[in-house]
Amino acid sequence: MKIVILTGAGVSAESGLGTFRGKGGVWTKYDLTEVATPEGFARDPEKVHDFYNARRRNAAGARPNAAHYALARLQEKHAGEVVIVTQNVDALHEAAGARTIHMHGRLDRAICASCGETWPAPDMMFATDPCPKCTAKTTRPDIVWFGEIPKAMSQIAHHLETADLFAAIGTSGQVYPAAGFVTEAARSGAHTVELNLEPSDVSGLFAERMEGPATESVPAWVARLL
Ligand code: APR
Repeated sequence: MKIVILTGAGVSAESGLGTFRGKGGVWTKYDLTEVATPEGFARDPEKVHDFYNARRRNAAGARPNAAHYALARLQEKHAGEVVIVTQNVDALHEAAGARTIHMHGRLDRAICASCGETWPAPDMMFATDPCPKCTAKTTRPDIVWFGEIPKAMSQIAHHLETADLFAAIGTSGQVYPAAGFVTEAARSGAHTVELNLEPSDVSGLFAERMEGPATESVPAWVARLL
C-alpha cells in the first residue's frame, strides 16, 4: 500500500512555530504581498530578507514533535512506499529522520534568482549577498512565494495518481495547488483522511477525518497503520 502525506503548518505548531492563518497567525501580523511575493521582493528585498532571517532563526531553535517522529517511523517501518510532501519550509521532518518533498522550498536554502544555483542559507541573508557561482547580487531565500509555481509538481502528481492512501495533516486547505491534492488522490481511487485541529476549508472532500492536535492524532493514526 502506497501512502502519500501532505503536511502543513499545523504539524510544526506544537514545536513552537506559528501557523499562517487563524489567531496569531503569521499573515495576521505581516502583509503577505510585501514579504511573500516576487513583487514585494523586487520593491524591498531587505524587508523580505529580514522577515525570513527571523523565521530561519525561529526554525533553527525548534525541535521536532511527536507528529514528526511518528511520520518518520511510518516511513521507516511501513512495508510500502511512504511519500511525505510538505508545504512547510522548516526542516523538522528531516530532523526527525524523514525524507520529504519541500513543495514550498526551504528556509535553510538560498537560491540565485539569476542563475538558479542553490546553496545552504547562512543564518542571516542580505540583499547584497553575491551568488557563489555567478556572483550576481540577486540572492533570495529558496522559498516559493505567492504567484510562483511550487516545486516538484510533476513528481507529486505521479505520487497522487499512484497513492492507495492520502492524508493531509495540519493544513487549512486555503492554498492551491496543495488544497486540491485530496481531489486528485480520490480520483485515482485513494482512501483519503484529514488530520487537523479543526475542520479545514476542504474537510468535506475527505472520506475520513481525525480532529485534534497533531502530536496526539498522528501517533495514533500511525500506530493504527503499523
Ligand atoms: N495540530 C493539528 N493541526 C493544527 C494544529 C495542531 N497542533 N495547530 C493548528 N492546526 C491547523 C489549523 O487548524 C489550520 O487548519 O493547521 C492548519 C494551519 O493552516 P495554515 O496556517 O493556513 O497553514 P498551511 O495550510 O500550512 O498554509 C499553506 O500557505 O502561507 C502559505 O506557503 C505558506 O505553506 C504555507 C501555505
